[in-house]
Amino acid sequence: MGKQSVRLMLVGADGGLGSVVRDIVGNETDWALIEVGRRTVRREGVEEGFDSGSRAAWRSLFDSREWRPTVVVNTAAITNVDACETARPEAWRSNVTLVENIAAECKRHACKLIQISSDYIFDGAAGPYGEHATPNPINYYGKTKLAAENACIGAEINHAIIRTMWLYGEGRRGKPSFVSWLVDTLAARKTASVVTDEIGNPTLYDDVAYGIIKIIERDYSGTLNIAGPDLVSRWEFAQTVARIYNLDAGLLNPVQSGELKRAARRPLRSGLISFHVQTLMGLRLTSLADGLGTCRVIELRMAR
Ligand SMILES: NC(=O)c1ccc[n+]([C@@H]2O[C@H](COP(=O)([O-])OP(=O)(O)OC[C@H]3O[C@@H](n4cnc5c(N)ncnc54)[C@H](OP(=O)(O)O)[C@@H]3O)[C@@H](O)[C@H]2O)c1
Repeated sequence: MGKQSVRLMLVGADGGLGSVVRDIVGNETDWALIEVGRRTVRREGVEEGFDSGSRAAWRSLFDSREWRPTVVVNTAAITNVDACETARPEAWRSNVTLVENIAAECKRHACKLIQISSDYIFDGAAGPYGEHATPNPINYYGKTKLAAENACIGAEINHAIIRTMWLYGEGRRGKPSFVSWLVDTLAARKTASVVTDEIGNPTLYDDVAYGIIKIIERDYSGTLNIAGPDLVSRWEFAQTVARIYNLDAGLLNPVQSGELKRAARRPLRSGLISFHVQTLMGLRLTSLADGLGTCRVIELRMAR
């Protein structure tokens, strides 16, 4: 696809996933890229102030020829699950109202919207979940992510929803991930309490980024799971991190999810079945050992 055919607006471009999408799209496609943050918009070296919370700001952004996209990828959200539980109005504004505003502009300009969603729309009673499983969120973050999916569907626009979970990647991007927290904690020789009864698929940011590119290239519409191939407990995830980063697994302290004093409940038996994205799109998903190994090598190179 030529540069003129895809003008990709990436919302949440400075977050963990957003920054990986930005790098991969920048390096591997010739698409025009418009980066949107909370307070700025950028394209080809031009940066302007922006208020992502303002409906009028979205309208004028889409109305201007220079900034108007052909496809929007929304990676922005408040992803701190406990903060969403306690600061609900703010969580709703970022995770739902923002999506409603973007979807309304996509409708006005016949633009495609790709929205990033989460396994937290499920209750974790009977995972792993396929795309057609029935949602039943058990915390506020999950409720906002489900409401955002419904905003995309209700807008009656060309859209795709990607559900993913337990994202990790190299470096220090966006909110600290489970992996970066664990590596920092164990490297400082501190103990880390890790739950044994939460199950899911650790997912490399890059796999989601390549999935987004395939969805755009094929103009796929609908809901797709993109999660790593290993279904493990948080405890097994932590053991693998300690092994690959050569850190002391003896510092890991096993706990049950309910023992941690957290504001939000977590889905326990979760996980996402990513069969369709592999068969329909030919997307290759990275094993946890390979993903962590690659992250470690890149981080060692960067530290030199
Ligand atoms: N991380 C995971 O394990 C995980 C799992 C399942 C699904 N997801 C979904 O994947 C997507 C990306 O997550 P991530 O890991 O990249 O999260 P992240 O590192 O926390 O990045 C989210 C980005 O969104 C921005 N943002 C939040 N509210 C905004 C607003 N109102 N306007 C503009 N920007 C706003 C944040 O900016 P500030 O820093 O200024 O807040 C941040 O740059 C999210 O939709 C998340 O729900 C993540």
